[in-house]
Amino acid sequence: MVGYIDIPAVLEETSTAGETEADNPSRDSPARLTESMIQARRKRPLDRGVCAQKQWITFTLNLHSNTQRTSMILVTGGAGFIGGNFVLDWCFGSDEPVVNLDKLTYAGNLETLASIADNQKHIFVQGDIGDRSLVACLLADHRPRAVINFAAESHVDRSIHGPGDFIKTNIEGTYNLLESVRGYWSNLNDIEKHSFRFLHVSTDEVYGSLSSTDPAFTETNRYEPNSPYSASKAASDHLVRAWHHTYGLPVLTTNCSNNYGPYHFPEKLIPLMIVNALAGKSLPVYGDGMQVRDWLYVKDHCSAIRCVLRAGRLGETYNIGGWNEKPNIEIVRTVCTLLDEFRPKADGTSYAAQIIYVTDRLGHDRRYAIDARKMERELGWKPAETFTTGIRKTVQWYLDNPKWVANVQSGAYRDWMQKQYAGATP
Ligand code: NAD
Ligand code: TYD
Repeated sequence: MVGYIDIPAVLEETSTAGETEADNPSRDSPARLTESMIQARRKRPLDRGVCAQKQWITFTLNLHSNTQRTSMILVTGGAGFIGGNFVLDWCFGSDEPVVNLDKLTYAGNLETLASIADNQKHIFVQGDIGDRSLVACLLADHRPRAVINFAAESHVDRSIHGPGDFIKTNIEGTYNLLESVRGYWSNLNDIEKHSFRFLHVSTDEVYGSLSSTDPAFTETNRYEPNSPYSASKAASDHLVRAWHHTYGLPVLTTNCSNNYGPYHFPEKLIPLMIVNALAGKSLPVYGDGMQVRDWLYVKDHCSAIRCVLRAGRLGETYNIGGWNEKPNIEIVRTVCTLLDEFRPKADGTSYAAQIIYVTDRLGHDRRYAIDARKMERELGWKPAETFTTGIRKTVQWYLDNPKWVANVQSGAYRDWMQKQYAGATP
């Protein structure tokens, strides 16, 4: 179920919560809710949630109000690309409820979660990981056995244009979340304390850039972040580590390579190339296009996180990757070839004709590569998809879901695209 806030229908139903419009300054963002989702919410009988305070309201069903508490997890950033895929997989693959806390920044999209809008095991709460009173209340109310932190500002180019939000969410937000979780965890009984986990989702970009001959990143590589994004993620990883070392908080950290797959916001390379190609726009490749990334299908990242959550050793970090190192230009050409096959252009030309080379990203890291052997050795995890299978599924997904794409494109995304790619035409 989705415990939406910020929509008039919800506020009507919660008049007993005693909240006025002035109490809820964040109410004015209903645009991301589809009409069917709102209707579904209106029809549903609700129990009033415990966490009904100023600025936010959440609804819960009687999932755990009786003597026998149901175990559950709390996910942050679960309306984004990876968090959204994780929540969907969780809801379809497990009976355990999930509370999903997401601020709904430009990257948060409730349409990604449309297929679980009526799923009573899913409780969505709009809010900031840095809002300690909200998080403390959610933890006290739902008593999760684990918190999985996906919430972040995640786009390198945006971090170059404006690092402030990255410092605020990725560093300050993680700090505040850790403190909220520490407060909750320290009051658990010994059994709950022992089994509790805080899993922090991070990136391979914290390790910096490799030359073409360097070995892939292992968990012992030095942190050498080069962009405001990777520096802010590196800082958050250090905070997580310190909260374990100093306070004993049971943490796990994952450092993953570039993800791709369904519901990927089309500001990142692969979805951008797909939607631009279909729209007849240019396909902007930075610099010489020979920067190398290691690509992992998002569902494989989600399965890896479930493995680490289940069996990861406390305080350890795990590198997650797809063993799929590819230069950017090869990725773009592969997308074009698949589109030529699935949706050939009427004039018989290839989408590859739309490729243009544009000014390189500032401080652009040359190569990332993940050595994921620890995941395999300790947890028996290996990716299920090769790049060949994963990219076919991904391109097909974008062709099959034009409405999701169109709705994303009608938002703030459009302003961003103009700012970043002004003047870039094929
Ligand atoms: P995303 O940008 O698609 O989604 C981020 C989500 O977090 C959004 O739903 C957004 O609304 C939410 N959010 C942002 N600030 C918030 C805040 N202060 N409080 C609550 N919610 C907030 O990102 P993604 O690609 O899904 O990445 C998820 C995580 O995985 C990030 O931590 C990222 O660093 C990491 N990661 C991403 C990749 C990748 O290739 N995308 C690779 C490795 C690691
Ligand atoms: P991106 O998807 O932004 O992920 P990250 O920067 O986290 O690796 O970019 C992947 C690669 O693609 C990166 O080397 C930058 C490059 N790129 C382009 O060449 N053109 C583009 O329009 C974008 C968005 C990225």
